[in-house]
Amino acid sequence: MIVSPSVLALDYSNMETQVNELNESGAEWLHFDVMDGHFVPNLTFGPDILKAFCKMSPLVKDVHLMVSDPYFFSDVFAKAGADIITFHAEAERDYLKTVELARHIHALGCKAGISIKPLSDIEMLRPYLREFDVFLIMSVEPGFGGQPFLPASASRISTLRRWLDNSHPEALVEVDGGINRDTAKICLDAGADVLVAGSYVFKKNIRESVQSLCALAQ
Ligand code: DX5
Ligand code: ZN
Repeated sequence: MIVSPSVLALDYSNMETQVNELNESGAEWLHFDVMDGHFVPNLTFGPDILKAFCKMSPLVKDVHLMVSDPYFFSDVFAKAGADIITFHAEAERDYLKTVELARHIHALGCKAGISIKPLSDIEMLRPYLREFDVFLIMSVEPGFGGQPFLPASASRISTLRRWLDNSHPEALVEVDGGINRDTAKICLDAGADVLVAGSYVFKKNIRESVQSLCALAQ
């Protein structure tokens, strides 16, 4: 199981210390929530922040694009050092364009991910099971950290894991929103491979929080 701390919740007045703690925490990825103030009602960081993290951390840069123009921002964040670029199925509903963007992200040298909001039908992902490396299930409405986990996410995780086991077993199911020790257990039991956690990781000791999640998979 992979832990991907969301740096949306990082204390930017203490950035270097916290990134060093993340590097030693046992987390394998860092999750970057890119928000454009249009696809979601919030605005976060641009490529220069990702470049700074690339200088400070060897962890996998897991970029979550909550943007209305994933084509533009895929190029921007690939150039800034992203390893994984995930965009929302709701931002591009055309099948061919979605497949084309997945292949473009691969051509940029990144892994490609697709995400859906909690109220979107999980069937939206069915046509793309072989096209993406990561499938990001939002367990909160995207836009802000610190929201409670939506319990209906568990059945969505297990449905998606079952589909992938039959068609693309090496693909990863990532869950994002309201993850703590209790909800992490629910997600792992449902088949999640990657857990994104923001407020849970940064509100206390970073290493202890990450380790408390890693311990669930042992
Ligand atoms: C929400 C983001 C999540 C969020 C997670 O739009 O995609 O990654 O930062 O934060 P917590 O773990 O606090 O729910
Ligand atoms: Zn996210």
